[in-house]
Amino acid sequence: MRIKTGFGFGFFLWIGAGLLVSSLAFHAGLSSPATPATDGAAIFKKNCMMCHGADGKGFAALKTPNFTDPKWQSATKDKEMKEVIKNGKKGTAMVGFGNQLKDEEITAVIAYIRSLKKK
Ligand code: HEC
Repeated sequence: MRIKTGFGFGFFLWIGAGLLVSSLAFHAGLSSPATPATDGAAIFKKNCMMCHGADGKGFAALKTPNFTDPKWQSATKDKEMKEVIKNGKKGTAMVGFGNQLKDEEITAVIAYIRSLKKK
C-alpha cells in the first residue's frame, strides 16, 4: 500500500512537471508557428507606427516618408533602410533601433515596409 501511494504521488509530479515545461515553452513562443519576435507587422505597430502611421503613409507634421509611395519604394534600397533603422538619421526624429531590435527583426520590419507599397 505504501509503495502504491508513493508511485501515485511521483506520477502526479511527473505530469505536473510536463505541464509546466510545455506551458513555459508555449509562453516562450516555441510552439507557435509564427514567432512574434520576427513578425514585421507587430514590430512596426509597436515601435514605428506612432511616427509612421498605422498605414505607413507617414505624417506631414513629422516629415515621415510615405512608405506606400512606389517612387519612395524604388528610391530607397534595403541597405539604406537597414542603416537608418539601426543607427537613425542624424538631425531628424528618426532614432536608431540597433539596441532594441535584432538583425532578423530589422529584416522582418523592412519586409513589412516593402509590403506597404501601393500597387
Ligand atoms: C520618433 C518618431 C519615429 C519613430 C518612432 C520611427 N521613425 Fe522612422 N522616421 C522618422 C522620421 C521623422 C523620418 C524622416 C527622416 C528624414 O527627414 O529623412 C523617418 C524615416 C524613416 C525611414 C526612411 C529613411 C530614409 O532614408 O529615407 C525608414 C525606412 C524608417 N524611418 C523606418 C522606421 C522603422 C522601421 C521604425 C520602427 C522600428 C521607425 N522608423 C520608427 C521618425 C520616426
